[in-house]
Amino acid sequence: MKIVTSPAEMQSIALDLRQQGRTVGLVPTMGWFHEGHLSLMRKAKDVADSVITSLFVNPIQFGPSEDLDNYPYDLERDKALAAATGVDFLYAPEKDSMYTDAFSTTVHVEGVSEGLCGDARPGHFDGVTTVVAKLFNQTLPHFAVFGQKDFQQLAVIRQMVRDLDFPIEIIAHPIVRESSGLAMSSRNTYLKDEDQDAALSLSRGIANAKELAADRSATVEKIKQSVQQDIEKHQACEVEYIEIVNATSLAVCDNIDSESVILLAVKINNSIRLIDNSFLLASS
Ligand code: PAF
Repeated sequence: MKIVTSPAEMQSIALDLRQQGRTVGLVPTMGWFHEGHLSLMRKAKDVADSVITSLFVNPIQFGPSEDLDNYPYDLERDKALAAATGVDFLYAPEKDSMYTDAFSTTVHVEGVSEGLCGDARPGHFDGVTTVVAKLFNQTLPHFAVFGQKDFQQLAVIRQMVRDLDFPIEIIAHPIVRESSGLAMSSRNTYLKDEDQDAALSLSRGIANAKELAADRSATVEKIKQSVQQDIEKHQACEVEYIEIVNATSLAVCDNIDSESVILLAVKINNSIRLIDNSFLLASS
C-alpha cells in the first residue's frame, strides 16, 4: 500500500490509473478505522480495480464547540489496518495542503442538508460537501463508498453529485454493528464502560420502533414518542432529534411505508454525540 500526502501527487496517480484503464474506488474517511470502515474498503475492492482510502480529519466540518481537537487519530494504526484490508493507496493529506490561506470556496447543498444534523451542527454539511468535492477531484474515482450510518450525509452527497455532474457512482454500505447492536463509530472510543447501556438505547429504540411499525397500527407520532421515552429513561441521554423521514427526500413522513427511515441523534453525558438509523419496515 502506497502512502500519498500531496493532492497533486494523488491526482497524478489517479490520472495514471485511469489512463491504464483501471477503475478507481474511493473510501473517504476521517480515520480511526473500525470494522465499519474496513467493510467500506472491502466493498470498494469488490467494485473497483484500485482502491484509495482518504484519511483526513476535516476541520471545516466541525463546529467551534465540537470534538476536532480530541478526534481520535493514529496514522500508524490506520496504515496497518488499511494495508491488511488490501487498500492500494492511503491518501492522508496535510491540513495546509487541503486549505491554503487563500482558500475561499464552499460547496453548499440546499434542501436535504437542512433539518436533523443540519440544524444541530450548523455549517457541518458545507464542510462535508466542500471536502468531498475536493477529494473527488483529487482522486478521480469511478465509485465512492459511504456508510449508511451517516444517512443524511449520504443524501447530501448524492444530491451534490447529481447537481454538479460528478461522473461518480455513489455506493451506500449498510451500518456495521457491534454484537451488542451499537452502530460502529470512531466516536464510540469516547464511551466509558458505564456509558454502554445509555449508548445502546439508540439501537434498542430502533428495534422498538420497528416492532411498532410492523404492527401497522402505530402512528409516526406514537413511534417517535415511544422511542423518546425509552431513550430518556437513561439519565445520561439527551435526545437531539428523533425523526421518521422518506429515505430519498428526507421529508418528514405522515405515514410509515417501505421508504420510511427512523433517524436518531442522542448526546450521552452532554458530550458524546451518537447517531443511528434504520428503514422501519426492513428486517435487518
Ligand atoms: O463520514 C466521514 O467520515 C466524513 O464526513 C467524510 C465523508 C470523510 C468527510 O470528511
